[in-house]
Amino acid sequence: MDADEMLRILEAELARAREAFNGATTLEELETAEVLVLGRKSPLNSVQRSLGTVGEQARREVGRHVNEVRDRLRADLAARREALEEATEAGLLEADRLDLSLPGRRPRAGSLHPLTLVENEIVEVFLRLGFRVVEGPEVEDDWHNFQALNIPVDHPARTMKDSLYVDVPGHPELLLRTETSAVQIRTMQSQAPPVYVIAPGRCYRRETPDATHLAVFYQVEALVVDEGITFADLKGTLEAVTRGLFGEDRRIRLAPAYFPFVEPGAEVAVSCFKCDGVGCRVCGNGWIELLGCGMVHPRVLESCGYDAERYTGFAFGLGIERVALLKYGIPDIRLLLDGDVRFLEQFGATA
Ligand code: FA5
Repeated sequence: MDADEMLRILEAELARAREAFNGATTLEELETAEVLVLGRKSPLNSVQRSLGTVGEQARREVGRHVNEVRDRLRADLAARREALEEATEAGLLEADRLDLSLPGRRPRAGSLHPLTLVENEIVEVFLRLGFRVVEGPEVEDDWHNFQALNIPVDHPARTMKDSLYVDVPGHPELLLRTETSAVQIRTMQSQAPPVYVIAPGRCYRRETPDATHLAVFYQVEALVVDEGITFADLKGTLEAVTRGLFGEDRRIRLAPAYFPFVEPGAEVAVSCFKCDGVGCRVCGNGWIELLGCGMVHPRVLESCGYDAERYTGFAFGLGIERVALLKYGIPDIRLLLDGDVRFLEQFGATA
């Protein structure tokens, strides 16, 4: 090639390089463009290599041009690289942007189930009175659930109609406990008097659920056995417990009732939260039955080996769901089992 052609090539390279550099949109593309424009096989390099073929005068002139063009191209390349690096950096920063003024996402806190809240509260009231918490099994045998509690063979509670029996080969008389009173027996079998215990737990009965009844529900059993315990102690304890749970406003009513394991026996009802004793759809007659109670029958004490001449005692069993209905004004006991978060979170206390 002659000197003119070399100068033409250099001129064309300036335009081609600008296009190649500006057309590169990433640093990788710019590297490819650099090889094309300034690499070993580039037109600029072949012009330089051909310089030896032209006369001295032309070589000096074209050589100066080659150097100028290369400097320009290197400067253009550096400028483009800087621009692309800045853009990459800005993109990374944007993608990584942390807006510290945005409020955080708070994890949703659960709350204790109203039955747990009520059970905790009942346990606390009794602990303040000096009681101890004990537990018993939910699958019971006939002796603990019935016989030791002085429930005669012909008592209606023993029939298949009222109790749920468990089908375990070799154990024909296992059933789901119908009340927590069986824990009275297990406690007296395991310790000597004095006894001051409560036993919270689940009970099972063949019931058709309605606004105040469930087939699976919770009771808290209380048992006191000591020397000189009278009905006055029972009444005083009941008053302390109901006052602790419901405050001073609610009235309580004791009515005689029959339970085979106490003598005398009574049922305690609390004035209805909805109608205050007048009578409504929730309660029927103005009162919501809360618990059964009485003086422990001497035969029950004797079946556990206690001296019934020396010791007397009282017991009661209260329904935890009923306490929840009365405390929170819940119109239907079945709401407690629905698992509807909108209902449950009203009770508020977090775990
Ligand atoms: C008993 O279960 C006796 N064991 C109570 C007792 C203990 C009496 C110690 C004497 C001495 P009753 O079946 O009445 O009694 O039930 C006691 C309480 O459990 C009731 O007052 C009620 O609050 C609750 N309860 C009973 N059945 C249900 C049910 N189906 N659904 C919800 N709560 C119930």
